[in-house]
Amino acid sequence: MRLQVEVLADAREIGRRGADVVAGELLAGRLRVLGVATGSSPLQVYESLAARDLPGWDGVEVFALDEYVGLPAGDRASYADVVDREVRAPLGVDPARVHVPDGRADDLDAACDAYEQALVAAGGVDVQVLGIGATGHIGFNEPGSPFSSRTRVVELTPRTVADNARFFASADDVPRRAITQGIATIARARRHVLIARGEGKAEAVRAALEGEVAPDCPASALRTFEDVLVLLDPAAASLLTRSPARAVGAG
Ligand code: F6R
Repeated sequence: MRLQVEVLADAREIGRRGADVVAGELLAGRLRVLGVATGSSPLQVYESLAARDLPGWDGVEVFALDEYVGLPAGDRASYADVVDREVRAPLGVDPARVHVPDGRADDLDAACDAYEQALVAAGGVDVQVLGIGATGHIGFNEPGSPFSSRTRVVELTPRTVADNARFFASADDVPRRAITQGIATIARARRHVLIARGEGKAEAVRAALEGEVAPDCPASALRTFEDVLVLLDPAAASLLTRSPARAVGAG
């Protein structure tokens, strides 16, 4: 396994570095499936990719990590809308190849199973872009999520609801439930690029990289994955006690 941590000056540098990884896979013909996080952390990766005007995006499948339960179609805060706006349109991905869990399904459990099957049918994710929540979540796998978890309906923690209120008119409008890929689902990707910026992420980053590898910090599961690149700004890296420039493995 390989887990590499890099501290870069700012969002722009992080975006460029993350885009280098994705573009490298695309140009080498190894990017059949891209896994995307929404939220603010990876936006500059998508922007940097779009600015490169790369060929071949129309053949790439895109899978989102998660979706809120119960938002109406077309809601700007729904991850279906965010992925359409921030990833599909700027990159020129075929709309038929974009997959987001169906948070409006009558049978949510069946929608979760269907999403797992769609991931398998697509051949698995080649590069998964991740953010991390202040709770240590990846996707919406909040603390306590088993490392064996698959795509399922979850409850968001009050902290996550508060943190994501900025994308809604008020905290009351943030759905309390979501569908998320599980930790075991996310783990299957061939490569992962996790991005964290700002002081608010520093403790979660420390717990993920230097704390116990346990469901208390879902992102600590990264240390069991095959090939992980963690991109941090100085504020997000500020509580790390080991040299972040070197590889940090599970042991
Ligand atoms: C979003 C997702 C979440 C976010 C995390 C960080 O699809 O899976 O895990 O990546 O909540 O969000 P930002 O980047 O907005 O701080």
